[in-house]
Amino acid sequence: MGDGEMAAQALLPPTQFGVASYWETADPALMFDTIQNGSLESGMPGFGEGQNSNPLSETQIWDVIAALTELPSLNQPIPTAAVQGQVTNQTTGEVVTEGTVFLQAFTADFEEGLRLEQPLTADGRFNFALQDVPPQWVYRVIIRTADGLEFGSEFGQLSPNQPTLELALGTYAPTQDAAVLAIAQLDVFVEFSPAAVSVSELYLLDNRSNAVFVGETGDFTEGTVQINVPEGAQNVSFWRGLGTSAADFVPADEQMRPLSATTWAFARPVSAGEAVLQLVVRYDLPYNRQATISHPAPYPIGQANLFVPQGAVAVDGTAGEWQPTTSLVPNFEQYQRPSLLAGQSLAISLSGHPAWVTDSDGNLLPNRDAQQELWLGLGALGLALGAAVYTVYHWRTSPPPLHPRDALLQALAALDAAHEQHPLPKRAHEQQRQTLKRELLAVWED
Ligand code: HEM
Repeated sequence: MGDGEMAAQALLPPTQFGVASYWETADPALMFDTIQNGSLESGMPGFGEGQNSNPLSETQIWDVIAALTELPSLNQPIPTAAVQGQVTNQTTGEVVTEGTVFLQAFTADFEEGLRLEQPLTADGRFNFALQDVPPQWVYRVIIRTADGLEFGSEFGQLSPNQPTLELALGTYAPTQDAAVLAIAQLDVFVEFSPAAVSVSELYLLDNRSNAVFVGETGDFTEGTVQINVPEGAQNVSFWRGLGTSAADFVPADEQMRPLSATTWAFARPVSAGEAVLQLVVRYDLPYNRQATISHPAPYPIGQANLFVPQGAVAVDGTAGEWQPTTSLVPNFEQYQRPSLLAGQSLAISLSGHPAWVTDSDGNLLPNRDAQQELWLGLGALGLALGAAVYTVYHWRTSPPPLHPRDALLQALAALDAAHEQHPLPKRAHEQQRQTLKRELLAVWED
């Protein structure tokens, strides 16, 4: 509380770390600097190397900062609080007066701490009155509209100083018009194994309307966005990108519905906006000195990139559409082709004997993990996409402290960074990643 014995000697009142409001603007780097070097103007001594006869190491300083975040006074429950707001239809600008609103609270460990529901009032408002809630929880509201669609708000926090949280919640009108969909970018990654070529196609999808696309039948469970694979594709699997900064993809097979042997459909509504969906489809094709990756573009494709392992094989675009370009991804050659219209075929002919292959254990590539490289590659690429700008902008404008999504994405990135510096046993690393990803999925907004 900044009221210890030495406080009287300071020129300014020492900072109070035991009040929650401090943490709303706390800057760990500045804290580190102040503890290390002290502050002459305010009369705080330095505790770092060269500043003190019994200095703290850098690790010890970080430990001190971590300990400050757990002061008991910070855990006092907030006696009375409220989460409230009004729901507007972003398509029409009108206030929404029908629907059920759910309040969800997550604990610091990303467990669901609370779930309440109430109907919208006649003036389109919701107001959840809360008592004795822990201060570290994060909240969001979700509305289920009369047409069965769900929309979520950003996350927010309560504090003893600000016990009322206003959360904006918007809905969108549904549209059944598939012409609102466009593929801003398609990235095709190719890998070889002894008798097959594995293809990963990353679709970055825009919904260029101000309405949520619910599929052409109007029932999103029957399918919204369609994805095509070549005839004879085997081991088809789907993944969804969760933001670009941590470059992470989670299995999405359960969100896909087969429509035919070569067409699948995403069985979720697609919200309005740019880069609203990142879908990866992976499949294998037999490869014996040659293979053709060919299927129609389901929607217009703005830009298409192809990534082939360096020195592996020759790429013959029909009529030379695929042009080599400077590669954004290490160890891959990159090709580009002009935009495609919906229905136009994506034709990639690969030929030749791959310079190297990956067997199922990765034996032919000591010290290299092709799968991991692929995800790293996808991630590096994701960063280069406009999606990165969009996502980062979006996160910047949402409240900075402890957004569970961001915190989890950061945790994933930190885990990978730590693994790079001091490799954890592969199994342990993977296990920790899976746990984080499960938690991430639980809080990811659709
Ligand atoms: C466990 C020991 C201490 C730690 C970890 C610590 C940490 C910090 C940190 C991180 C800040 C910067 C806060 C911010 O601006 O965000 C700060 C500010 C300050 N500290 Fe300390 N400090 C300690 C001991 C002391 C002592 C012994 C004194 C006084 C004798 C002192 C006096 C101050 C003062 C006056 C400020 C500046 C307040 C202001 O500029 O508004 N601190 N301290």
